[in-house]
Amino acid sequence: MTPQEKLYSWFLLNQRDLTFRKKKQAYSIWISEVMLQQTRVAAMLPLYESFIKKFPTVETLASSSEEEVLSAWKGLGYYSRARNIRKGAIFLSQNYNGSFPKDLGKVLEVPGIGPYTARAVLSIAYDLPFAVLDGNVKRVLSRLFLYEKNILGSNADKELQILADEFLNLKYPGDHNQAMMELGATICLPENPKCLLCPLQQDCIALSKNRTDQVPIRTKEKKKLEMTAKILWMEAGDEVLLVKEKSPRFLKGMFVLPFYFEGELPSEEYETSPFISKLSLLPDLRPYGKTFSHTITHHKFKFFVIGNSFNKQKLNDEISSWKKDIEWKWVKKEKLEEEFPSSLAKKTLNAILK
Ligand code: ADE
Repeated sequence: MTPQEKLYSWFLLNQRDLTFRKKKQAYSIWISEVMLQQTRVAAMLPLYESFIKKFPTVETLASSSEEEVLSAWKGLGYYSRARNIRKGAIFLSQNYNGSFPKDLGKVLEVPGIGPYTARAVLSIAYDLPFAVLDGNVKRVLSRLFLYEKNILGSNADKELQILADEFLNLKYPGDHNQAMMELGATICLPENPKCLLCPLQQDCIALSKNRTDQVPIRTKEKKKLEMTAKILWMEAGDEVLLVKEKSPRFLKGMFVLPFYFEGELPSEEYETSPFISKLSLLPDLRPYGKTFSHTITHHKFKFFVIGNSFNKQKLNDEISSWKKDIEWKWVKKEKLEEEFPSSLAKKTLNAILK
């Protein structure tokens, strides 16, 4: 028997009796797989059953309100997943009459469906040849093929997906995927795997070298590179310019020294306010102090101070003509830390004065 056949026979005999496996319907498989991404099987089963009772089809889910779906999702957490499921159902009902396309690329276009879910649904519902990769499967593959690189590394998913695809049982892709997950959940455990009960014990390279306790390797990658920010020091006599954005990402509710980010942004949606962009492009700005580092809610920035001394009246005239998406005011430098109550103010003062 090939390893795939051994695994398949093992699965037929040993699989847990799970209701969500009985209906080979793309819709209910989709719901169950999303739920299983955040909850263990035992906890998820009752919630799954009542959810399916309430929303038995894509159409019923698509025509429900968000509140109804969130209420049926109670106990599962990650409410964005519930919102996305509803959005996905609306998309399927508008574009595919409520059915699931049998094409990986098309399923990946459904809002909220990522590679794992797309592959799980297509293989389990339609027996299409897509191997899934989740935490359990990665552990099984790492041991079976003795994958000795960091499974949290940047290339690991790509390499493990290749191993998963090569190992896929093309005759029974859906059962094979579930068998891999089931093996990881019940036999190929993170600690003390039950190798004597494993259908792949003769095929497992890690076991043959007595190294099941050494793989998979999971080392967190180094922290992200520091991001760069510029802070604008625009002084006029004994005053300095502060701004207040309508809905800033950081330092909400206060007047701040204008700042903006360069290079890698704190998030994809982040946008510099047009007002601050224009300020930063004023011709007279130059490096104006030492650099320093500063952390704002989980983001570490290297701050560069740029600025200059301005004629207050002229600068006011100039910025008054800009679109007012921001408030500004001049404050006495000695009052800066009162007016801008963040350690960023103090650090900037230190950077300038020394
Ligand atoms: N974990 C997530 N989905 C699963 C499935 N279909 N079978 C077993 N374990 C799983």
